[in-house]
Amino acid sequence: MSFPQERPRRLRRAERLRALVRETLVTPAQLVYPLFVVPGEGARREIASLPGCFHLSPDQAVREAREVEALGIAGVILFGLPKAKDPLGSEAWDEEGALQQAIRAIRAECRDLLVITDVCLCEYTSHGHCGVLEGEEVRNDPTLELLARMSVSHARAGAHVVAPSDMMDGRVGAIRRGLDAAGFADTAILSYAAKYASAFYGPFRDAAGSAPQFGDRRGYQMDPANVREALREVRLDIEEGADLVMVKPALAYLDVVRAVRAAFDRPVAAYNVSGEYAMVKAAAQHGWIDEERIVREVLTCLRRAGADVILTYHAKDFARWTS
Ligand code: PBG
Repeated sequence: MSFPQERPRRLRRAERLRALVRETLVTPAQLVYPLFVVPGEGARREIASLPGCFHLSPDQAVREAREVEALGIAGVILFGLPKAKDPLGSEAWDEEGALQQAIRAIRAECRDLLVITDVCLCEYTSHGHCGVLEGEEVRNDPTLELLARMSVSHARAGAHVVAPSDMMDGRVGAIRRGLDAAGFADTAILSYAAKYASAFYGPFRDAAGSAPQFGDRRGYQMDPANVREALREVRLDIEEGADLVMVKPALAYLDVVRAVRAAFDRPVAAYNVSGEYAMVKAAAQHGWIDEERIVREVLTCLRRAGADVILTYHAKDFARWTS
């Protein structure tokens, strides 16, 4: 059939009709909201490069988490900042660290909220790299044990899911073994499996104070030019025990989301990263775009590309607009 019998516009005539035949839906239950936890009490400081997002002390993180829970958002992903940084990032597995306190407090207050934690040393190391240094080299294997220790401390504090974002080889296996040995067989792993060396993380590095002191992350994060390699990374992580796998960043990488969705049977997450958020916010503040429509479009298209789960700084705004 073709025109004039076929008229695709017939199904676009009214919103009820468009909604009826819509192929992709986004709900707050598919979203995860990032929170940045800092040491102290009563601290709630807006992050300049991420308008609407805050540095929160554990008590304030709980308040924020309650709001997130009330909006029907699935969960939070927590990033921790230390009191002091050192070469190994040893506050990362401190039971009394701000992040660990926040995990315990949120678990105690928010019954239905999922608590996911970012596992990476870069916020905790004085040099800002994601692993142990030897000279200017990030060493893979000695880093694994530290990541496992950090994951166990998160699980012990009550994290439902740990999310390693460091891109060391073999870390998912090391974390799985560490969790199991410590009695946390039920703690899930969301692996940042295909994480690219991206300029879209710029605002996050301001937020986390985690810009490397020298060099960059191209020695461990992936080359933006590669997609076959992403499938290999995802396969390795699944073999090592990843329960969910992530593609990051999201918007310039929709083909990667699609390829991972098609090739594997695990839930796929996409991280709509800080630079993607900051660009939308900045253009909206100038009045150059309609923020609500852009955000709805961005999240819908991420789902259409194949993301089951979306990590996004837009989660609260989206949930308010759709409630
Ligand atoms: C830590 C980490 C980063 C992000 C998540 N975990 C920064 C990086 O790898 O440089 C980026 C998140 C964002 O940009 O929103 N390794």
